[in-house]
Amino acid sequence: MSNAVSLKEVYKDYFKVGTAVNNRCLDRDKDIILKHFNTVTCEYEMKLAGLRRPDLTFDFANADKIYNFANENGIEVRGHNLVWHQGIYTEVLESMTKQQLIELMTEHMRTVGERYKKVVCWDVVNEAISDDWNGFLRDTVWRRKLGDDYYMTVFRLAREIIPDKTLVYNDFNEYEEPKRNNIIKLVKQLKTEGLIDAVGMQCHINILYCTADDIKRSFEEFSKLGLPIHVTEIDIGLPEMNDPAPLSSMTQEQREQQASLYEALFATMREYSSIIDSATVWGVRDSQSWLNNFRFERECTALLFDKDGQPTEAFYRITQF
Ligand code: G3I
Repeated sequence: MSNAVSLKEVYKDYFKVGTAVNNRCLDRDKDIILKHFNTVTCEYEMKLAGLRRPDLTFDFANADKIYNFANENGIEVRGHNLVWHQGIYTEVLESMTKQQLIELMTEHMRTVGERYKKVVCWDVVNEAISDDWNGFLRDTVWRRKLGDDYYMTVFRLAREIIPDKTLVYNDFNEYEEPKRNNIIKLVKQLKTEGLIDAVGMQCHINILYCTADDIKRSFEEFSKLGLPIHVTEIDIGLPEMNDPAPLSSMTQEQREQQASLYEALFATMREYSSIIDSATVWGVRDSQSWLNNFRFERECTALLFDKDGQPTEAFYRITQF
């Protein structure tokens, strides 16, 4: 265990600092989690397919393990997520009528609301906005079944069934202006009925397509919504997710760009800390990152602790300011 400073201590006057966890890393990285983080998000275990079997019966075991660990250690749990186009049994949902799907989500929200009472917030809808800048909504089974205004329907259901929770809309590539404008359009619609309590900025960013100015602009534009911000899934992957090159081929300049972007992101978040509830990195150590096998199977570095659990350069850049 390194003698590095504690992230949650360094940021205690700014915002909560969190990480995505799964059952594998919970055992291996318990000491790092306890030292550095005061909020956790289940990387998979609280998604619909993480909580249910293909026959839709519940299997709470994996989520319970993380939830109980967090509660026993005074760590907050972010609920992730209720409605998404992944982490579900798409074919099963496709076979349902609109009414059956609404009944399923009613039961789902009631069940998770009852069982995970200490989950403070839920990413109610995740990634509804299309990556096609000329489009608006992503084509998903939820949209096909519930209609183009499905996100309104789902948030109304959540407000009715889990009224004590902070309801969040969560999305990525929010540093791209066209997509950010669409996210803001959707959030404003939710605001008209008082259905949303916070905006989730995933902050999966990279050195090729995102600059420090893009990050600053994103926080400035989202701050105008008058809602708290949850920064939910931070990582800065090297090699960039579309690059099959081995990690060993990354240059010192690229590594410096990665560290500098982490530094810029956390400096911007400190600047906007009055509206930021929490900042969560999407994994404890590099070997946990989804980016190791998202498009290419190869080792990557993306997080604040390397594959051996030691602080990365980014860790020092965001804690020495
Ligand atoms: O554990 C199950 C196993 O029991 C099952 O037999 C197998 C069947 O495919 O799946 C296993 O689950 C895998 C799960 O991770 C747990 O390791 C899934 O295959 C795999 O798809 C899943 O990947 C996760 C992905 O979301 C999809 O849910 C990644 O770990 C996770 O990092 C990624 O996180 C998402 C956020 O939720 C939303 N924003 C984007 C982000 C990156 O894609």
